[in-house]
Amino acid sequence: MSVLIKNGVVVNADRTFKADVYCKDGKIAAVGENLDVPSDAEVVDADGQYVLPGGIDPHTHMQFPFMGTVASDDFYTGTAAALAGGTTSIIDFVIPQPGQRLLDAYQQWREWAEKSAADYTFHVAITWWDDSVHEDMETLVREYGVNSFKHFMAYKNAIMADDETLVKSFRRCVELGAMPTVHAENGELVYQLQQEMLAKGITGPEAHPLSRPPFVEGEAANRAIQVAQAMHTPIYIVHVSCKDSLDAITRARSAGQRVYGEVLAGHLCIDDSVYRSEDFDIAAGHVMSPPFRSKEHQDALWNGLQGGNLHTTATDHCCFCKDQKAAGRDDFTKIPNGTAGVEDRMAILWDEGVNKGRLTLSEFVAVTSTNTAKLFNMYPRKGSVSVDADADIVVWDPKGTRTISADTHHMNVDFNIFEGRTVTGIPSHTLSRGKVVWCNGELNAERGAGRYVERPAFAPVIEAVTRQTELNEPKAVKR
Ligand code: URP
Ligand code: ZN
Ligand code: ZN
Ligand code: ZN
Repeated sequence: MSVLIKNGVVVNADRTFKADVYCKDGKIAAVGENLDVPSDAEVVDADGQYVLPGGIDPHTHMQFPFMGTVASDDFYTGTAAALAGGTTSIIDFVIPQPGQRLLDAYQQWREWAEKSAADYTFHVAITWWDDSVHEDMETLVREYGVNSFKHFMAYKNAIMADDETLVKSFRRCVELGAMPTVHAENGELVYQLQQEMLAKGITGPEAHPLSRPPFVEGEAANRAIQVAQAMHTPIYIVHVSCKDSLDAITRARSAGQRVYGEVLAGHLCIDDSVYRSEDFDIAAGHVMSPPFRSKEHQDALWNGLQGGNLHTTATDHCCFCKDQKAAGRDDFTKIPNGTAGVEDRMAILWDEGVNKGRLTLSEFVAVTSTNTAKLFNMYPRKGSVSVDADADIVVWDPKGTRTISADTHHMNVDFNIFEGRTVTGIPSHTLSRGKVVWCNGELNAERGAGRYVERPAFAPVIEAVTRQTELNEPKAVKR
């Protein structure tokens, strides 16, 4: 099985150049002009198009059991839709129930993910603490290639990690060379504000953003960053949705702290007016946490991405159909939180980013693929069009258009937060491990073809911080 991508312009995070790309046995075998390749190679003509590293979505929840139901995209349908949109790898989440052994939850998610059509790997959530968690974190890092752990600072009475858990887990991450990540929202405040809204008789989805205002996110982001500072670890903040948490990141970074921020395609271009729709399905269809924000926050997020204080783009793909969302018809706190987007992220970022002059071609590649690969130690195997990298490639047609709709998307959900938007810039072809799985609108995703990606500990940024900590180790005064 070999494929030659001809006549395109390769875009990597560091440079853009004209070259053909030859893929063989799942890897990129050659990049250059006038390549000498077998005559039976399948040819993809990329004339007038760009050849990019496949997108990596660092934040998805396929078939996630959450809030009394299960996310409607499973690992097959969700990764197939991802391929249709030019995303060739996902980082999903293993989320143990409090009290559940991490390794048991991990094995459960690995089993669920065997049907994936695209490559996948896992962050593991720390939802509780005892000696077994301490021990299992080491096993996951040393034996299973997990190098990042997630902490939900929200979802009180469910999966929320309290400050003691944060501190202990961050410290353990430092010992193991892993990256701590957080969902930053003050769970106690959210809980109290939710009760206030219900007491006032505001029970619909319009109460969702009112119970999770930006300062709730800002407080938690600040707290997590300070805990990271105290523990001497880098930190990665998922779905930064507002100025308050972005300001916390920017402040810490300008003081030299290694803080990384992820932003969702949805938070960049959807505003909070959606929650005031009189149509319950529309308002509830947008219920996700943190919520969509007002326009000024979107502008701040674009500035953060452009200015380098936000580093990765994701979707937090976690789909629920209308009948699932209806569980919260009379009580907004029961609407399962989550929205879809794994298929749409690349095109939204291109259309809103590159087409509007907010991102260069290389910056687009950095924020949709390479930065994630680097932070989570998969680079250059992922996130790069270069020899020996996995042949996860997107041929990007900058003139192609698509009107996004739940009627035509490949995700297994009956709602799309980007419904009706026409984007210019779409993938014409997607290669997953060297196989053409998407060709001009035809999807040939293969159930079970995706592979688990092991990620070694001590990514370069972790190594640097570890070195710095060692050199600055406080010393007792000899008297
Ligand atoms: O609303 C969301 N984001 N649902 C998925 C879980 C999470 O918080 O990431
Ligand atoms: Zn979250
Ligand atoms: Zn999430
Ligand atoms: Zn083709």
